[in-house]
Amino acid sequence: MRSSPAILQVGYGAFGAVHLDAWSSLVPAAGIIVADPDPAARAAAEARLPGVATVADWRDAVGRVGAVDILTPTGTHHPIAAAAIDAGRHVFLEKPMTVDAAEARDLQRRADAARVVVQGGLYFRFHPKARAARALVGEGAVGRLRFLQGRFAGFKRARGDSGALLNDAVHFIDLFGWLTGERPESVHAVTRDHFGRGSEDLALVTLLYPSGVVGHVETGYVQPGRWPDSVVPGAITSKEIQVSGSEGAIEIDFAAETMALTRVRHELSDGLWRPVFAGSEPVAAPAAGPVAVVRAELAHFLDCIATGRAPDAGLAECGIDLALVLDAARRSAADGAVIRIAS
Ligand SMILES: NC(=O)c1ccc[n+]([C@@H]2O[C@H](COP(=O)([O-])OP(=O)(O)OC[C@H]3O[C@@H](n4cnc5c(N)ncnc54)[C@H](O)[C@@H]3O)[C@@H](O)[C@H]2O)c1
Repeated sequence: MRSSPAILQVGYGAFGAVHLDAWSSLVPAAGIIVADPDPAARAAAEARLPGVATVADWRDAVGRVGAVDILTPTGTHHPIAAAAIDAGRHVFLEKPMTVDAAEARDLQRRADAARVVVQGGLYFRFHPKARAARALVGEGAVGRLRFLQGRFAGFKRARGDSGALLNDAVHFIDLFGWLTGERPESVHAVTRDHFGRGSEDLALVTLLYPSGVVGHVETGYVQPGRWPDSVVPGAITSKEIQVSGSEGAIEIDFAAETMALTRVRHELSDGLWRPVFAGSEPVAAPAAGPVAVVRAELAHFLDCIATGRAPDAGLAECGIDLALVLDAARRSAADGAVIRIAS
């Protein structure tokens, strides 16, 4: 294990064990503190990692650590992160980093002043199959990009802290920006709140990029998925993307751990545009469960702290820019219009 600052993990809910398992593979248990106001959560953390210290109020431990990992309900992200940054702590902040772009901008101002590393929990940037897809796109394996499609959907419980846009669409909207190297310039979103709880349980988001590439993300809890969810017990979900270009397509099913590259282009023959297939092959990229992916995210965070380099998944891209897209998607859903995304 490399030398690391002591870590304060704030929040030990459904995703808590994944982060704690990842931290314990990077940092000795004596260097980890878990904060959660729920006594049952603290007991679960102590049982999971013998020797870990726990506190009810994270503020009682922030003075004893160098970095804070925040995985609490979305609405609490900004106040906890702002206070941790102001205290000079490096911060890893689970997605969605903030509720909106104004909060993300505020964190950026604070982080610039405190000169600390702030990294978002944008999981798929660190997934080996997404990384392999990015490399293939970079090599031109699918030619000029045309259409990115993602499905992050299935029957699962609707989280209480926000809707499908902030919780789920956030993943693939970020991934598509990372794969294309572009920010979308406009968005059209359709959402529904079938449960009448004040936030969407179905969200369909179409993204238009300056180069002409189109992205589409389907998220929701009211339609079938295909696989037992690796993070949410009892849920049946799909997490799949297709990246299509002029020379072929990459397909990833993250839950099934499959990835394939199909080489195909359309050619005009006898007056019709027809697909000409040049083979389909599986792409060898390692399987990775949630702990392995989060471990990669956290190892990157520690490396950025040690070296002073800016994190992939930093506040500018994964906080402000991503929140601007999500803010515009909410406006689009409310107005029924295509909305240009502010910069
Ligand atoms: N990257 C991913 O794939 C992924 C997966 C799941 C969850 N998440 C994100 O992780 C975060 C947590 O998700 P979850 O499913 O564990 O949520 P959860 O609701 O199951 O648990 C949240 C925990 O935070 C605790 N908490 C609330 N306020 C607190 C505070 N002020 N100080 C300390 N603890 C506090 C609660 O007691 C609870 O134990 C969310 O932002 C969620 O979007 C990310």
